[in-house]
Amino acid sequence: MSKPGALPERVKIVEVGPRDGLQNESRPLSIEDKLKLVTLLVDAGLRCIEAGSFVNPKWVPQMAGSDELFKRLEKKPTVTYAALVPNIKGFERALAAGAGEVAVFTAASEQFSQNNTNCSIAEGLRRFEPIFAAAGNANIPVRGYVSCVAGCPYQGEVAIGDVVDVADRLLQAGCYEISLGDTIGTGTPGRFSQLLQQVTERVPVHQIAVHCHDTYGQALANIYASLQAGVAVVDSSVAGLGGCPYARGASGNVATEDLVYMLQGLGIDCGVDLPAIIAAGNFVSACLDRSSQSKVARARAGEAA
Ligand code: HMG
Ligand code: MG
Repeated sequence: MSKPGALPERVKIVEVGPRDGLQNESRPLSIEDKLKLVTLLVDAGLRCIEAGSFVNPKWVPQMAGSDELFKRLEKKPTVTYAALVPNIKGFERALAAGAGEVAVFTAASEQFSQNNTNCSIAEGLRRFEPIFAAAGNANIPVRGYVSCVAGCPYQGEVAIGDVVDVADRLLQAGCYEISLGDTIGTGTPGRFSQLLQQVTERVPVHQIAVHCHDTYGQALANIYASLQAGVAVVDSSVAGLGGCPYARGASGNVATEDLVYMLQGLGIDCGVDLPAIIAAGNFVSACLDRSSQSKVARARAGEAA
């Protein structure tokens, strides 16, 4: 099939299932099962995996084992294991555990920032300053998340200008990539097109990723609109796991299986093997004793039955 001209040749998938997904699952996964999951993700061809977070374990107990997990991950030169960190304490834990990259996170909504990180957006950005300094010394790349780019569970509407402002501040502070998070999945393709048109006036498109939760079933459509705008980095979560503990009702990210299926159908290279990523999703779904949220995995299971 010929590829529409505007779409990228290649897409980098950032697999966030072990962090964004598992942080919101009520049933905790053992370290052994998390290690097995990450191994399956690597075997499927994923090269950027956000494997856990170093936040306050009283806030997010599901991520309490990240220190041990990162220490035990099999290091490979072609694979980056990233960690989500809220402050310098989290960064120091991530560094000690051997994370190859960190991600800081804030929001385009003040109320969400307060609920998620117990501080204002400005205070959150100040907390990141020592992270940028220490990460620079340790040669660790820093990614930045902006939550609530298409709506907030507390304040409702979020102005695109507020997203642009926070994304720009993260870029100026030293993030090499900005991931735009539709935390509650309320965005639609028109919103994403408009959003990207305005964000790219301040952040180069090659430094933008999209992070689409699928609560309203819009994630793939929003990703397609983002690809048309030139975005070539997409976050996804195997089996469509999880959500955000501070965004009630938010479902998981777009399932990696479904994203890979769409990219392959568009002739876009993402380096991921579909049957292998379906197997990884089936493994983690069995560990959690729940069905996969991936439509592609379900369809393939039906075909096999
Ligand atoms: P705080 O309570 O304001 O922090 O929390 P504090 O500095 O006042 O410290 C209070 C206690 O926490 C102290 O311990 C600290 O040592 C400890 P105590 O003296 O009470 O025993 N502490 C830590 N412990 C371990 N690791 C740390 C750490 N920092 C402090 N790094 C904080 C502030 C940000 C830490 C807290 O609010 C927190 O952990 N929040 C977690 C929020 C979270 O993980 N949310 C989910 C991830 S974000 C997301 O999912 C969205 C995203 O996917 C994009 C999208 O979808 O939009 C990225
Ligand atoms: Mg998220």
